[in-house]
Amino acid sequence: MLDMNRIPKHIAIIMDGNGRWAKKHKVPRVAGHNAGMKSMKEIVRHASDLGVHDLTVYAFSTENWKRTEEEIGGIFKLIIKYVDLDLDELNAHNVKMQILGDYSPLPKASIEKIEEAVGKTKDNTGMRFNIALNYGGRLEILESAKELAKQYKEGLISLDDFSEENFAKYLTTGDTAGNLGDPDLIIRTSGEERLSNFLLWQAAYSEFVFTDVLWPDFTPEELEKCIEEYQSRDRRYGGR
Ligand code: IPE
Ligand code: IPE
Ligand code: MG
Repeated sequence: MLDMNRIPKHIAIIMDGNGRWAKKHKVPRVAGHNAGMKSMKEIVRHASDLGVHDLTVYAFSTENWKRTEEEIGGIFKLIIKYVDLDLDELNAHNVKMQILGDYSPLPKASIEKIEEAVGKTKDNTGMRFNIALNYGGRLEILESAKELAKQYKEGLISLDDFSEENFAKYLTTGDTAGNLGDPDLIIRTSGEERLSNFLLWQAAYSEFVFTDVLWPDFTPEELEKCIEEYQSRDRRYGGR
């Protein structure tokens, strides 16, 4: 049974397995991503209903540019479809949508839709729905290091200011995203058990739950199962 008093504050999901789902159903990969987008929509709703503070999903990595132009284009078009389908409901649920990562290389139409959704949900005070898009964990760590180095060079900070706290401020999850805090639970679907460059810094003490379910088949019930697994863990943070 789910303990409603111990719902993780921040859940992060590596939404994986759209391609294998498509193969299994003998449809093009983009149809798998479309099915994945529908699952994402359901999971956003359910996480918000459960009282999750932050839901962060991995939608496109800095390494996903290695895929075909057709697949990449299809994924970026789906972002537009997602916003068209869900913006009203995000607002009805008081959900605030934000992007982690540099979405500037995306096609203009996708950028405009993203900015419309971010703009129209910016004052919502419920769950924050953070989409990692063209996101890379190593990249954001380097960017944060560069920012601190720049401030040091300009004489604005001293070496002692290179602290974990200051470093975290300049990550994509930091100041610009309203300081998300580290994920309590990281879920990865499709049976793969790796981070694939997701939230490297922030995952230091996260609990990991891996499930064989392919992302398009991931339902609110599956989410609850993952949370139950999380609730059975003993988080010690290095203490006794
Ligand atoms: C995850 O599904 C979605 C993205 C990476 C954009 P995949 O497309 O990686 O699915 P598999 O791993 O090929 O099954
Ligand atoms: C990670 O999945 C990225 C997203 C889910 C957006 P991938 O499918 O790209 O990761 P690898 O290649 O299996 O590690
Ligand atoms: Mg994959």
